[in-house]
Order: sequence, then C-alpha cells, then structure tokens
Amino acid sequence: MKIYFAKVQEWLEKLKSQQPQVCDWIGIYYKESYLENLDSTDLVLGPFVGEETEHTRISIDRGFCGMALREERTVNVADVTQDATHIACSLKTRSELVVPIADMKGKYVAELDIDCNRLNAFTPELEEFFKQAVKSFPLLEEFIPFPVDSFETPRLLIRKVTPKDINDIFEYCKNPTVARYVTWEAHQSLEDTQKFITYALESYNVGAPEPMAIILKDDPKQRVIGTVGLIPANPKNRTYELAYVIAEEQWGKGIVAEAAKPLINFCFKHFAMERLQCRCDVLNPQSSRVMEKLGMHYEGTLKASMFLKGKPRDMHMYSIVKSEFRPFL
Ligand SMILES: CC(C)(COP(=O)(O)OP(=O)(O)OC[C@H]1O[C@@H](n2cnc3c(N)ncnc32)[C@H](O)[C@@H]1OP(=O)(O)O)[C@@H](O)C(=O)NCCC(=O)NCCS
Repeated sequence: MKIYFAKVQEWLEKLKSQQPQVCDWIGIYYKESYLENLDSTDLVLGPFVGEETEHTRISIDRGFCGMALREERTVNVADVTQDATHIACSLKTRSELVVPIADMKGKYVAELDIDCNRLNAFTPELEEFFKQAVKSFPLLEEFIPFPVDSFETPRLLIRKVTPKDINDIFEYCKNPTVARYVTWEAHQSLEDTQKFITYALESYNVGAPEPMAIILKDDPKQRVIGTVGLIPANPKNRTYELAYVIAEEQWGKGIVAEAAKPLINFCFKHFAMERLQCRCDVLNPQSSRVMEKLGMHYEGTLKASMFLKGKPRDMHMYSIVKSEFRPFL
C-alpha cells in the first residue's frame, strides 16, 4: 500500500500544482470496501495535500463526500456555509468540489475532494478540468505486486531479477551491439546495471512482469542471459508493450520467443490486457522476427516516432489483441 499511496500523493501534488488557486486542500476518499475488501459502506481518507483533518472516515450517508459516491455524480458547492450537510474539514473552507472516480470497469470506488477558501471557486471549466483529471487517477489494481516468481519452458527458467544478478546483466548490457536498437545506452559500469535492477524491483511491485530474467536451465552457473517483460504501456486502455534483450552469444536460438510465451499466456489470462504491442527499429529485423514468432501482426511503420541514440527512428509496430490470441501450448 505504501508504494501505491506514494503514487497517489504524487498525482495529487501534480494536480494541485496545475490549479493551485483552488486547491487549499485536496485529497482522496476511498470506499473502504474497495481499499480493504471489507464489507463496509464507509469512506476512508487516503493521501491528501493540505492541513490534517479529523475526517478520516465518513459515512456514505453524510456530507458532500457521501453524496458524490452515493449519487455517483460530481458535487460542486459554491458556498459550503449555506449548506447544513457540509462536514467542515477546515473552518476556512468556502467552496468544495467532489468528483467520483471509477475503476476500469466503470464502478465508482473513490473520489477526489477539493476544498477552496474562496466562495464560488469551481467554475464549469474547472469542474470539467478535474473530471478529466480523475481519468488518470492511479487505481489500486494497477499496483498489486506481480504474483508469479518464475515460469518454466522446455529450455528456460524465467524468473524475477534479483540484486545478485548484477554481474550477469552487466555482462551483456555493456555490449554496444546489444544496445544498438534499444532505448537505453550500453552500460558503462555496474552503477548503470544497479539502476536497471532498482527499476525491475519497482516494476514488480506495481504489478508488471517486467523485466523477467531469462536463464538456460542446463547452465550449471544459472546465469541471467537476458530479460523479457510486459510493460503496462497504457493500462487505462488495457495496452501492454513487450520488451526483450538477450546476450549476443545467445542470438538465433529462438530463446526470446520461447521466454515470452508463458508471460503472454499469463497476462492475457489474468490481466485486464486487451492489446499487446511491440515496436522495433526498422533496422532491427531480428526483433521483427521475434514478434512474428509470437503471432503478432505488423500494423505499420511509425515514422520518426522514437528519438534513439541521437537520431529520429522509424519504428515497426506489431500487436496481438485478446480476441485473436490463442494461448501458447
Ligand atoms: C532481437 C533479439 C531479442 C532476438 O532474439 P533471439 O532470441 O536471438 O531471436 P531468434 O533466435 O528468434 O532470431 C530472430 C532472427 O534473428 C536473425 N538471427 C539469428 N541469429 C542471428 C545472429 N547471430 N545475428 C544476427 N541475426 C540473427 C534471424 O533472422 C532470426 O530469424 P529466424 O529464426 O527466422 O532465422 C536479440 O537479437 C537481441 O537481444 N537484440 C538486442 C536487443 C534488441 O534489439 N531488443 C529488441 C528491441 S525492440
């Protein structure tokens, strides 16, 4: 929950910085049933920016906060002092906006509550701004640690990266040939690899199987020879992006496609994933072949769509969507 709330806090701070004139207090109330999976109709306070409030729990029957989630509508109050239903968070508050927040299935699970110390603060334009803003609210379900530690295929073990893998990963990531068509630079030192490992651990914590280490089962040293992962590229649109890399001496053995299969099976089965996409530089046909081996379809070339290694690059876009996906055996 700590990582999730930190993300929400960051989201609130960004929102406040966009409309500081009205956000004297800005916070999130969750349905307790959503946050804790409890049989409760109360609302509980999550992260907020502003003064402490004693209203950390509100009955859904009370106040504007209760009203917004009970009636599933935005509540915009020009003058809270004129309304007996107001629960005063701060005596300075004059106007209030409460915008319900829906989960991916459209069920209301939380609300954005903003208090302003001025009367009539929330114009129709501002109300619309905050209604749009909640569409990018970080939902809890996007922040559940990836639940599987490892997968197996005939030749491979695919498991989460650990800090002990640092030397193995550095070994292939320092190779400029390997890094030629990827978004990152060839690693110059173990420090670069350490950053990658930190990214991996954070990524598992927010639910992504990315990057998962690839190991040859028959390697006595059980070295990590590459990684493969599904990145939540656009969770609201249920789109993930495949990413992979493997040590140069292992190229051409079909390893990456084999490693990707159990991950793709898992994510289409258990995640809200409608589309898996993957892009590669037009000069990297090896990568296109991996996507073809995974049953992905070429959709077109996105001209100058990535700026990599100091140059605009044309990228081939491939995808496979849930309705056409047949699980790999
Ligand atoms: C792209 C990459 C992941 C492919 O992985 P792989 O496990 O070697 O893939 P495959 O064994 O299925 O080979 C794919 C194609 O590469 C080509 N290939 C095979 N061996 C090769 C070699 N030694 N050198 C160059 N190309 C080779 C072949 O055309 C092969 O297709 P085929 O099997 O139909 O003949 C790997 O080359 C890599 O890690 N490259 C560097 C990182 C990268 O570019 N990542 C992708 C970013 S989008």
